[in-house]
Amino acid sequence: MRVFVTGVHGYIGAVLAPYLLERGLEVLGLDTGYYRDGWLYSDNRQLPVSPLTLNKDLRRVEASDLAGCDAVVHLAELSNDPLGQNNPAVTHQINHQGSVALARCARQAGIGRFVYTSSCSVYGAGSGDFLDEQAEVNPQTAYAECKVLVERDLRSMAGADFAPVMLRNATAFGPSPRMRFDIVINDLCALAFTTRRIAMTSDGSPWRPVVHVHDICEAIHRSLVAPAQAVAGKIFNVGQNSENYRVRELAQIVAAEFPGCEVSIGPPSGDNRSYRVSFDRIHRELPGFACHFTARDGVRQLREIFERIQMSPEIYRFRAFTRLKQLQYLLGTGQLDEAFYWR
Ligand SMILES: NC(=O)c1ccc[n+]([C@@H]2O[C@H](COP(=O)([O-])OP(=O)(O)OC[C@H]3O[C@@H](n4cnc5c(N)ncnc54)[C@H](O)[C@@H]3O)[C@@H](O)[C@H]2O)c1
Repeated sequence: MRVFVTGVHGYIGAVLAPYLLERGLEVLGLDTGYYRDGWLYSDNRQLPVSPLTLNKDLRRVEASDLAGCDAVVHLAELSNDPLGQNNPAVTHQINHQGSVALARCARQAGIGRFVYTSSCSVYGAGSGDFLDEQAEVNPQTAYAECKVLVERDLRSMAGADFAPVMLRNATAFGPSPRMRFDIVINDLCALAFTTRRIAMTSDGSPWRPVVHVHDICEAIHRSLVAPAQAVAGKIFNVGQNSENYRVRELAQIVAAEFPGCEVSIGPPSGDNRSYRVSFDRIHRELPGFACHFTARDGVRQLREIFERIQMSPEIYRFRAFTRLKQLQYLLGTGQLDEAFYWR
């Protein structure tokens, strides 16, 4: 199977490509390279070969780019809430319109399987109850709104010859050479390693579901190889029920792995966005799927890498590991225009 992977140079993509190659799939990548300045560590056992990659914007993809591919995994978006809020118009252009245009190109190119990485952030503010795929969505940001719109449009395209699969990932964590320190566990680990102190500005009571980046890759791989009737048009929350944590529990898990790290909890905040997610469906209905890592595993892996590369405050703060910082830098230095195309 030859898989067209967009966003292959991103946090998930950089782990996914070798993951698929190791399992005997071929990968053709696409990425415009917004974060190409950032590469945290090398491990050639994990990345024996780099996939051939088109250096192209998602919005300029044509059906001919996908010729010879059997499936698409679509990761390339402005991919978190702060990024989306920063420029909602461009977010809609890339994340919604770009994604749907890619799906049309895939269908035109005769590609039957389209795996879309959605997000549990579509559930938005909640009361802390467990939410499954039938729960009402309640997107709070341009990023989450686009996820809902793309899911809707992909499902309307599902048919005998086109099987879209929507994976609503929990917040990812764990090592990737294309590291991100703007997601909760990775950020807490870097803070713990570089300052030995996690000072929370709130009481950390909200619930957050988290998932290891390798388990996201497992869900994507299983979605690619499953029989069409098991996955076509389906939405799956990606994670495991036991990996719903209160933010303060995550801080404590992190502190326990970094000797000498202190945690202080702040006062209750007005921010009561909180949701727990049920991951029953993916375990029941996606053939062969299981999660293999807990938050504690990921924290330990990150500590080992930080020790090996002598992680410093400068590396932690480096713009290319924090998406908003990097895009603001590229815009501020005139390398990207206002629509986020390279000049
Ligand atoms: N990381 C998470 O916690 C998480 C959770 C849920 C869902 N997701 C989703 O998974 C996908 C991948 O996430 P990630 O964390 O790897 O993101 P990322 O930001 O690290 O990577 C995205 C990649 O896409 C590329 N890209 C962005 N816009 C592009 C465009 N217009 N044309 C071509 N390339 C473009 C970027 O250069 C980058 O390499 C995203 O859709 C994201 O919303 C991620």
